[in-house]
Amino acid sequence: MENHITTRHRKKFWFAFFVLFFFWYMMLYGYDWSSIPGLSSVTHNQSDDDKNQEDSLQSMGSNPIPEPRVVENNREIPIKSSDSNSVPESGSAKNQLENTSTPKSDNDNVTVVSDESNNNDPIVEDLPGLEKEMEPSYVYVHELPSRFNHDYIKECKLLNKWHDMCQYFVNSGLGESLGNPQRLFLPSGWYITHQFSLEVIFHNRMKQYECLTNDSSKAAAIFVPYYSGLDVSRYLWDSDKASVKDSDSIELLKWLREKPEWKLMNGRDHFLVSGRITWDFRRAVDNYTEWGNKLMVLPESQNMTMLTIESSPWDKNDFAIPYPTYFHPRTDEQVLEWQNKMRRQKRRSLFCFAGAPRPNMEDSIRSEIMSQCAAAPKKCRLIECKNDKHNCLKPANVMRMFQNSVFCLQPPGDSFTRRSTFDSILAGCIPVFFSPGSAYVQYLWHLPKDHGSYSVLIPEGDVKRKGVSIDSVLSRIPRSRVSAMREKVIKLIPSVVYADPRSRLKRLDDAFDLTVRGVVRRVEALRKEMKSGRNHSGAFDSESSWKYYTFGTTAEHEWDHYFKRYR
Ligand SMILES: *[C@@H]1O[C@H](CO)[C@@H](O)[C@H](O)[C@H]1NC(C)=O
Ligand SMILES: *[C@@H]1O[C@H](CO)[C@@H](O)[C@H](O)[C@H]1NC(C)=O
Ligand SMILES: *[C@@H]1O[C@H](CO)[C@@H](O)[C@H](O)[C@H]1NC(C)=O
Ligand SMILES: *[C@@H]1O[C@H](CO)[C@@H](O)[C@H](O)[C@H]1NC(C)=O
Ligand SMILES: *[C@@H]1O[C@H](CO)[C@@H](O)[C@H](O)[C@H]1NC(C)=O
Ligand SMILES: *[C@@H]1O[C@H](CO)[C@@H](O)[C@H](O)[C@H]1NC(C)=O
Ligand SMILES: *[C@@H]1O[C@H](CO)[C@@H](O)[C@H](O)[C@H]1NC(C)=O
Repeated sequence: MENHITTRHRKKFWFAFFVLFFFWYMMLYGYDWSSIPGLSSVTHNQSDDDKNQEDSLQSMGSNPIPEPRVVENNREIPIKSSDSNSVPESGSAKNQLENTSTPKSDNDNVTVVSDESNNNDPIVEDLPGLEKEMEPSYVYVHELPSRFNHDYIKECKLLNKWHDMCQYFVNSGLGESLGNPQRLFLPSGWYITHQFSLEVIFHNRMKQYECLTNDSSKAAAIFVPYYSGLDVSRYLWDSDKASVKDSDSIELLKWLREKPEWKLMNGRDHFLVSGRITWDFRRAVDNYTEWGNKLMVLPESQNMTMLTIESSPWDKNDFAIPYPTYFHPRTDEQVLEWQNKMRRQKRRSLFCFAGAPRPNMEDSIRSEIMSQCAAAPKKCRLIECKNDKHNCLKPANVMRMFQNSVFCLQPPGDSFTRRSTFDSILAGCIPVFFSPGSAYVQYLWHLPKDHGSYSVLIPEGDVKRKGVSIDSVLSRIPRSRVSAMREKVIKLIPSVVYADPRSRLKRLDDAFDLTVRGVVRRVEALRKEMKSGRNHSGAFDSESSWKYYTFGTTAEHEWDHYFKRYR
């Protein structure tokens, strides 16, 4: 009897043991836990990332072996923009997409449930669209004479005196394939994309847009595929050819104004994309020896929405959209794969900087940044773009450094913004800004309002005048906060990349989708205003545009001093 009981117990024991073993085994190998929405972000929490970071920070602190320092040359965004490619990329997350099937309609009460579950995850709130959320609106594309776009590319040899630009227009404007050197990237999807080729990429991407129409009366917005940046780059540095700087812009606007489409809203539903910064198109005087052409100050342009890679904080008619990066995914899966790669990435340096000093700019913060970096060789890496332009232009050099760093410094250069900011987001490297003009008042449709959630702002003046140490500011940020910021940065990746124009992402919105949505919303608002006879653009002074567009008010703000002009 006793024996019998023991045997039964033994059998139970072995059964339980086997069952437990089975579950243990399944947990380890048998099931892809990351495919369960919600769970993945919990298990993943910060543990993995923290650990990597801890390891790397510890080795920086106590390991006497200094990190190899990369001192290479990287050419940067030229100010009055000569040209250059600079920095890296990043990866992002897409757990939410797995099948939380976000309800499309506000009336759907299921929304409430999923909102609640999302609220627990601080990383999810306030992201610009992760998933295609809005029914697309019709867009009409003007069929321009080829002299306003394709002809510039046919004559690509004339676009830049120092550099052959033709290589950048292959593959629908993405440039030549980058391959996968040192397995830094993915086997495909990476290109040597020029920082100023957005107008070509955008135009080609528009051809894939799902709601094109030939009936302009149905269109929510009207796209003008004029390659204004390529046009002006032909003459930017030639004061002797000055009088031709403006000619194509003036001709184009005349052509538009005479079209029936213009009459509907006096051009207020028209938009145009420029692949160069706004300052190349804002010559306010008729003296041709001054920089740039007049495109954005001409009367027709005041009624249009002008999209640029850097907008003017003091003008009402332009809006910034991301610079192109080197990554142009063909599928949602490629984006997810890249995001996961960036999540797993070991980051051995605390911060880094790629760029050139600006010795001629008295106010530039760059030399201070470079000397602080040089003074902390175990924590900071530097790629200095001084003599060896070749090295500096190699995407792999910069991207490798960004992928290995926790923070990427993004000081203003010749102008407020840098392509490098988007390369750093692509690399999962948290951007550190020194002025709100570098991103927060610029990329309103693509970056979250809560800028502290994905980036750090160290005021320029603090570094230059108060001797604030970048190292100590960044070292003081708690690890858990750093992990949360990095996760947010990685989740932003789809929003800042332009998908390969030869294909189309299915579930993710890329930078193009967010741009079209931003334009359509703006035009809808303008249309309503016109119908009701109200006029908001009269409601604020153009000098305060940055504030009105960012905060919806022109009340006094702590950032005012960053945007003071002495004219
Ligand atoms: C995961 O992160 C959340 C929020 O950051 C935190 O409240 C929670 O304790 C973390 N869980 C684990 C297991 O670390
Ligand atoms: C998500 O769910 C919907 C409906 O339940 C289904 O049709 C779709 O295939 C699912 N998608 C994925 C990726 O599982
Ligand atoms: C949805 O919720 C609202 C209030 O939360 C309620 O008034 C409405 O009846 C609900 N609709 C359905 C279909 O359950
Ligand atoms: C618009 O018209 C062109 C030529 O007439 C045609 O090739 C194109 O498919 C049309 N597009 C749409 C969206 O109907
Ligand atoms: C144009 O500007 C240049 C440099 O700013 C100046 O030297 C020149 O006198 C100006 N020409 C005229 C006609 O104002
Ligand atoms: C711009 O819009 C205003 C107001 O609708 C209109 O008076 C003006 O003529 C327009 N400008 C052009 C060049 O069409
Ligand atoms: C709105 O007002 C501004 C400035 O007062 C003016 O330039 C613009 O043409 C007006 N827009 C419309 C649609 O009337």
